[in-house]
Amino acid sequence: MTVPPGPRGLPVLGMLLAVRRDPIAVFRNAAARYGDVVSFKIGPRHGFLITNPADVRHVLQDNARNYHKSPLYEKLRSSIGNGLLTSEDDFWLRQRRIAQPAFHRQRIAALASVMDDAARDAADQWTSLAASGRPVDVAEEMMRLTRTVVVRALLGADLGPFAARIDPAWTVINEFVGENFWSLGFTDRWPTPKYRRFQTARAVLRGAVDHVIDQRRKHPTESSDLLSLLLSARDEETGESMTDEQLRVEVTTFLLAGQETTSLALTWTWYLLSQHPATRQRLEDEIDRVLDGRPPEYADLSQLPYTRMVIDESLRLYPPAWGFSRQALSDDVLGGYRLPRGWLAFVVPSVLHRLPAFWTDPDVFDPERFLPERSADRPKFLYVPFGAGPRQCIGNHFALIEAQLLVATLAQRYRLHLVPGHDAQPWPLITLRPRFGMPMTIEPR
Ligand code: HEM
Repeated sequence: MTVPPGPRGLPVLGMLLAVRRDPIAVFRNAAARYGDVVSFKIGPRHGFLITNPADVRHVLQDNARNYHKSPLYEKLRSSIGNGLLTSEDDFWLRQRRIAQPAFHRQRIAALASVMDDAARDAADQWTSLAASGRPVDVAEEMMRLTRTVVVRALLGADLGPFAARIDPAWTVINEFVGENFWSLGFTDRWPTPKYRRFQTARAVLRGAVDHVIDQRRKHPTESSDLLSLLLSARDEETGESMTDEQLRVEVTTFLLAGQETTSLALTWTWYLLSQHPATRQRLEDEIDRVLDGRPPEYADLSQLPYTRMVIDESLRLYPPAWGFSRQALSDDVLGGYRLPRGWLAFVVPSVLHRLPAFWTDPDVFDPERFLPERSADRPKFLYVPFGAGPRQCIGNHFALIEAQLLVATLAQRYRLHLVPGHDAQPWPLITLRPRFGMPMTIEPR
């Protein structure tokens, strides 16, 4: 078995500089040129980009035991700690089991009213923004809205004095980790102004998380929300509860993982709708017909299939978790090639979701490709905005229900228009943000 084909890149550095500049373009071009399995050298790391759904399934699900999250997650771990998103093996499994009940379908259905309320509050606040005619950064608006939902629904809290500081802090962390993602780590901690800003941002985040935990300890509730589960969890063998530090890490993980990705899904959805008036019209028609002017509730969601398809299609074109990676614990075989122990496997939704071999007109926004009859034959592991296998996103149903409710609530009352000439360029940091924000004007319907 030879090594699969792939771009050679520079001596020693391999594809490091190219990947740092524009990872999505590099991976997309490589898949187009070299096929299903592409060999990469990125600095000192070697790995395969895999784009055959059978190989994706093998790595994420069938042989998931042979893989850990790749060393690239180390940067995330050193920013938010070793929690559900970044930990491995027995420790991960224990944390996942503790949190899982908070995400059962019935439990999420019960939280839908929290989502409704937050969406209605935002819609009310937009009245004056719309009247002013001034553009707003919809990326920031969505960040605020999804943070409110996560904080209220999962942590039963409010962030008090930290509310206004946490979104800018997370932006600093995302940019710092995202820009250093591919670096070798030697220069990450040099006391540059960027590093100092990163440290300040981490302190803000920590303060916010401590505030949430302290509030709950001072005012315990009967609620069985996520925070209660984390606080009351006891180790089966020792009977001990989570340490304060571990609790902090998990609350931070949920705060960030729950807010950031969902807000980006919504931001890209508003962008796409603004560029496709006919689709927006269909969406509004569905919402108006089903709801007849009253605010949407959880029970309405099954009657809003087009709204859901719009979100699915937005997650296809702009997957907030644009790429992830694993490291092989022992040798494996992918697409007929031997992947040596220690090498990485790159699973890149931004590439998989637009493979011309599987998607007709891959770059075209076409929500109806998610009609049941048009998706029936599509391989499951070709569309993985939430990952797959045991490490699949724990919040996927939560996020989809939230997105559907928020889109229906806001589109019922407003139309959003991208400021003319604005460059809505995707920026692949840890998540796929719009590089220059998303300034839009709000028109009442
Ligand atoms: C559109 C919204 C979302 C997207 C696109 C998304 C995407 C993902 C992806 C791709 C992974 C797997 C990463 C990997 O395999 O390396 C993941 C894991 C995770 N997500 Fe999400 N997510 C979203 C919303 C949420 C929400 C709302 C929450 C919580 C409230 C959440 C919490 C988590 C956690 C804790 C993990 C780690 C799970 C584990 O490893 O056991 N996510 N997410």
